[in-house]
Amino acid sequence: MPVVFEKCAEDGTSFFLLNTPNSSYIISVLKNGIVSHSGWSRRIEKWSGNSAIWKTDRGVNLLPDLDPRNLSLDTMPQEYSTAGKSDFRPGAIELALNDGTHTLDLRYFSHDIIEEKPQLEGLPATYSVNSGEVETLALKLKDTKYDIFVTLFYAAWAERDVICRWVKIENKTDGKIKIEKVMSACIDFAGSDYKMLQMSGSWGRERKVYMRDLVPGTQSIESRRGSSSHHQNPFVALLAKDASEDSGEVFGFNFVYSGNFEARIDVDYMESARFSMGINPYNFSWNLEAGASFTAPEVVMVYSKDGLGAMSRTFHDLYRERLCRGQWKDKPRPIVINNWEATYFDFDEKKLCALADAAKDAGVEMFVLDDGWFGNRFDDRRALGDWVVNTQKLKGGLPYIVSEMKKRGLGFGLWVEPEMVSPESELYKAHPDWCIHIPGREMYLARTQLMLDLSRKEVTDYLFETLSGVFASADISYIKWDFNRYMTDAYSEGLETEQQQEVAHRYVLGLYSLLERLTAKFPHILFESCASGGGRFDPGILYYMPQIWTSDNTDALSRISIQAGTTLVYPPSAMSCHVSAVPNHQTGRITPLAQRAFTAMAGTYGYELDMTKLSKEEIVQIAEYSNFYKKIRSIVQSGDLYRLVSPWEKSDKVEKYAAWMNVSKDKSFAVVTVSWVYAEALAPKIVLKLKGLDGNADYKDLKSGKIYSAKELMYYGLLLANLWPGNASEQILLERV
Ligand code: DGJ
Repeated sequence: MPVVFEKCAEDGTSFFLLNTPNSSYIISVLKNGIVSHSGWSRRIEKWSGNSAIWKTDRGVNLLPDLDPRNLSLDTMPQEYSTAGKSDFRPGAIELALNDGTHTLDLRYFSHDIIEEKPQLEGLPATYSVNSGEVETLALKLKDTKYDIFVTLFYAAWAERDVICRWVKIENKTDGKIKIEKVMSACIDFAGSDYKMLQMSGSWGRERKVYMRDLVPGTQSIESRRGSSSHHQNPFVALLAKDASEDSGEVFGFNFVYSGNFEARIDVDYMESARFSMGINPYNFSWNLEAGASFTAPEVVMVYSKDGLGAMSRTFHDLYRERLCRGQWKDKPRPIVINNWEATYFDFDEKKLCALADAAKDAGVEMFVLDDGWFGNRFDDRRALGDWVVNTQKLKGGLPYIVSEMKKRGLGFGLWVEPEMVSPESELYKAHPDWCIHIPGREMYLARTQLMLDLSRKEVTDYLFETLSGVFASADISYIKWDFNRYMTDAYSEGLETEQQQEVAHRYVLGLYSLLERLTAKFPHILFESCASGGGRFDPGILYYMPQIWTSDNTDALSRISIQAGTTLVYPPSAMSCHVSAVPNHQTGRITPLAQRAFTAMAGTYGYELDMTKLSKEEIVQIAEYSNFYKKIRSIVQSGDLYRLVSPWEKSDKVEKYAAWMNVSKDKSFAVVTVSWVYAEALAPKIVLKLKGLDGNADYKDLKSGKIYSAKELMYYGLLLANLWPGNASEQILLERV
């Protein structure tokens, strides 16, 4: 069983041992009820209890009732540290109490071991299906003075190296309290000899991997933008100094939330590292009325003893199997053509049909009509909110264009950006108070648009009704849900003055409730999320929409780095990737078609270019790529990913090429992709050591017919002597014989 509870006789300490297949997480409860963290490591079968209490003679900040000389909260590792007592490090929780203080003294109250994973009300989270796959420890703490209860939840997975943590605060006093900070997870690591890995970037350069050694003081990432953002992904990993792609201890943390977050590591004077992750305390507080409770979102914690690669595969399996939901969760995802870079706003039904004719010949399965089909949306300065088809552009409306696509054997998808409103729109005229703004202050526009106030029920109800009408108006099987600005002036006309710091979180909750209702009402629709590219690529979104537009930057070389970073946490099935035109619209670079296609085949595949301008030969070539993808799509979308050479490993060699492979779960097929990043004359030979194959089997290269033993491929390597940089990339499909 993943959760074990035991009492240590000698000093009265009890402990919980949370076991996953390869890790153990230990919580100690001292006899005075203080809850201490005793470690998270490779699995230990037995725990001595010896170091349950860390003693340091500092002469100050003592625990008077236990050992007034040697015990200090300031040096003791804790499970969930509070403010105001003797721990001077940044705490996990801060409450403004009725007596004007912030001091909280949480002690063990009770515990429950639940034989499943309870769901988090109103929040996305991983879920259990089968009995025995998860055990959840609910560890209830109580303040020593007031009836304030804080329950720490730990869901330990029996067959995955995953522990999910979240927190619930209950106010059982007879007055209101204010939550000013609530981290969902907090772990005190004994030492600080780790590297911190983060994924940072911007629009068009999302999720670049950065690593640094921990140093005393604070190192942190955050978003204050109202969404998880392009700039910092809500993910951090701590790596042992010797850890790499395939070896060493790695601790990965991902926040299942799509709004403002903070992840920080504070290294103290004892050189221990405190990791914490949760809703960003910036401009956040929550009024907790008497009798009310608040649940903070989930943090997924993954342990790997075998480096980053194993960590990623654990995240991928968990998210594919127990985070994503709905009919599309395990279904092969269609190859799409999206008209955005082909036409931008300049289209009519004839142009779209011509594009569809070319796309059908190129092996495409779904036509996605992007921005510009509604209201008077002739550019990006107007009409958001007016979700009525523009019949000047689309004669016959959506039913006609859908039927035209059907004639060509294509499914139909539609772009929407429901969370926004343009000041120049019918919706804004009717409800100027429905946008997020501060009355009496100048409104800041971004892309000439405002955010709708999703913290208000009447707004989400309106969106539900309006979008339901659009989605049901024709046979729409795919929705691209866009989101193109960040939140400023966080204020809601629907809330009291003292609640205004709740707006950003209430917005996210409103979005989640809207998505829950729409995805339940339209289960056949494949929802793809987008936020100016990959500005909201997080597990919160994946709970509702199983794939996400990875980046607006479709340049093959840029994508190699963006996609490699993305796969650290998110499965290939979640990563939407398109082949686009050259010169690339974002970078101006020209890359070979093969390289663009092979790079896009790393995720869910599609096209985003004007195919009507391509020659017959090019369409035939593209059709071959589409057919190849159809052959490998189940391997890519539901197999295991092995990064062979990643762009962030800064060696001479690595800057020149990147390589990855996808292996089917039963190891009968593998597809290897190698791509030059930096072309050179007389390119060096590449010997690519493969991974993840069935070690006792032979594999056949389906193009050359050559047969290799798996051992040769993995230990000696695959020699790519003739991979001329001009071709830029190569894909090899292997079948076990
Ligand atoms: C931003 C998205 O990332 C693009 O793919 C496209 O849908 C535009 N918005 C449309 O306005």
